[in-house]
Amino acid sequence: MMQQAFSDVVGSATSPKKLINLLRGWPNTTLLPTSLLDKASHNVLTSKDEGIPAMLYGKDPGDPRLRTNVASWLTKFYQPPNPIADQRITITGGASQNLACLLQVFTDPVYTRNVWIVSPAYMLAFRIFDDGGFQRKLRAIPEDDQGIDIEYLRGEIRKSEEKAKADGNNEPLIKPTRPWSKIYRHVIYAVPTFSNPSFKTMTLRRREELVRLAREYDALIITDDVYDFLQWPASLSAQKLSLEKTALPRIVDVDRYLDGGAEREGADGFGNSCSNGSFSKICGPGLRTGWCEGTNKFAFGVSQAGSSHSGGAPSQLTATFLAEALEHGELQRYVYDVLQPSYGKRYQRTMTAINKELVPLGVDVPQTDREVVGGYFIWLTLPGSLKGAVVAQRAKDDENVVVAQGEMFEVPGDTERAGTHFNAVRVCFAWEEEEMLDEGIERLARVIRTLLDEQHTGDDSHSEQRATRESAKDFW
Ligand SMILES: Cc1ncc(COP(=O)(O)O)c(C=O)c1O
Repeated sequence: MMQQAFSDVVGSATSPKKLINLLRGWPNTTLLPTSLLDKASHNVLTSKDEGIPAMLYGKDPGDPRLRTNVASWLTKFYQPPNPIADQRITITGGASQNLACLLQVFTDPVYTRNVWIVSPAYMLAFRIFDDGGFQRKLRAIPEDDQGIDIEYLRGEIRKSEEKAKADGNNEPLIKPTRPWSKIYRHVIYAVPTFSNPSFKTMTLRRREELVRLAREYDALIITDDVYDFLQWPASLSAQKLSLEKTALPRIVDVDRYLDGGAEREGADGFGNSCSNGSFSKICGPGLRTGWCEGTNKFAFGVSQAGSSHSGGAPSQLTATFLAEALEHGELQRYVYDVLQPSYGKRYQRTMTAINKELVPLGVDVPQTDREVVGGYFIWLTLPGSLKGAVVAQRAKDDENVVVAQGEMFEVPGDTERAGTHFNAVRVCFAWEEEEMLDEGIERLARVIRTLLDEQHTGDDSHSEQRATRESAKDFW
């Protein structure tokens, strides 16, 4: 049977209205730097020195030139107290691929007690954790307006430690001890900056508290820092939408300097955090290339995953193209001159419509006092206890606009406690044509208004039925 394309599945089959897709978290195709990559790949493939190694097996930690160029780009962007050395970087097949490698190298599905996931969470990570053997060990950690709820996490980790003690779970059972790795007792997964889906940025204070907590309980904090470069001033009247430097250090930067850093005396040198970076959102997801930063020891460890040790780091060929694109600052300029202003304009248009159409209906947007925003997504908390699944279904059926329902981002198996269940929808302003973004929000407002009216008149039974019948069917 022929497989249906994504575009054939999404949207209403019967609506006369043009589909508006605020669900898909991909870059708009006009923003793909195709000619930049064309030039970079041509330069690589026509040079004997670059082209031949590019086509062969590579080194375990990845293409050396890309490691150097990524390290110096990150140093300029994050401005850590000391430059980022190449040895802190391992080239990966992107954030998703590397999450799997991290679990292979640094966790044991029995000894590692739990995976603590800041919630709402990037839903496609769930299966990666399942594959790592953590299906029954996923726990949701709520956020407030500052980010992760540290005290809640501390309390839950303590309970988890007590249970491990009672069970006699004292050492790794399944994973052998290897000189290049260690097995952590806990994993914490977060998207601290311009989060997918919550749109929030974790404050510096919370980042520091989280690092201290991770050190106390031998936890590895894995952050997907895939949206950091896509940032601009939050003001909706800002004219200049490019920002060369980050406003906040990553958690991996905090772990590097806080209280003597990850390589302080007495520490084992692996650190308690690592950062998954990716070229998916700044160049194109088809490249399947990214990087992982951690301490030298940690970065080497992840490069020793069996799948990298056999044949070298993934995405060797595209890694060499990206090394070339960064070498003379072209990709960096593309991010600054094209991507930040383009996504910034799309954000301004979407947010202006949200303020006009949705906020008066009681829809809530998080962290409205920020100076810098970014990423691909805006998280909208719904009024009147409306369910995300109901709103998404009606939006699709009645208005042919697709959005992601908040329920998709709940951590499987942990949705009952306060702060783990969401009456919300996520909208993406990166994929849809820019001119359609405000109309998408207007259509969504019509749906919410109608549902609120139905709630008031007590006529909301058919919406519930439709949502439970069809929810999540068409959404990835
Ligand atoms: C938080 C987060 N992590 C990871 C990814 C996927 O990254 P990659 O394409 O590098 O695997 C995405 C893409 O949507 C994302 O939003």
